Amino acid sequence: MALFREAGYDSAALAKINGMADPSYPYSRAVLSASPECEVMLARWSGGRTCAPHDHGASSGWVFYLEEDFEEQGYEWRAGELAPAWTAVHLAGSYTEVREQEIHSCVCRGSGLSLHIYFPRIANMRVFDFDERRTITVADDCGAWIPDRAEQRKQEETWQ
Ligand SMILES: [Fe+2]
Repeated sequence: MALFREAGYDSAALAKINGMADPSYPYSRAVLSASPECEVMLARWSGGRTCAPHDHGASSGWVFYLEEDFEEQGYEWRAGELAPAWTAVHLAGSYTEVREQEIHSCVCRGSGLSLHIYFPRIANMRVFDFDERRTITVADDCGAWIPDRAEQRKQEETWQ
């Protein structure tokens, strides 16, 4: 967490910025900073709601788990199927690296808070829909869930 403190972020102040999640979604997004090179997003989670498996476009970065503990599920393609590959628990106060091409989902055990730093800015994030067997490229203002508005679905590709 030293990296987080060195960056000058104050988690108590951040908590006030995104205080309550919309229960319709796995998390509510508050974009703190966005430029073509970098995006900083604060997520307030709906406890127990798992976000959809997703990638991060061409971005890499970090996730700082500020409040509550999180469980992460990683996926990989095996013989044309998206399969669970690994799991990790992230305790409040820890952080992880987000790698380009990585596919994962996350759930928070409570109404937690996480800070996401991506570079470049997230664009063309893909969400993976097991129910409909499709990959959806979502609008850049959409989080890791199946968009309910058609205009947030930029492209869809059905799995074989
Ligand atoms: Fe993610």
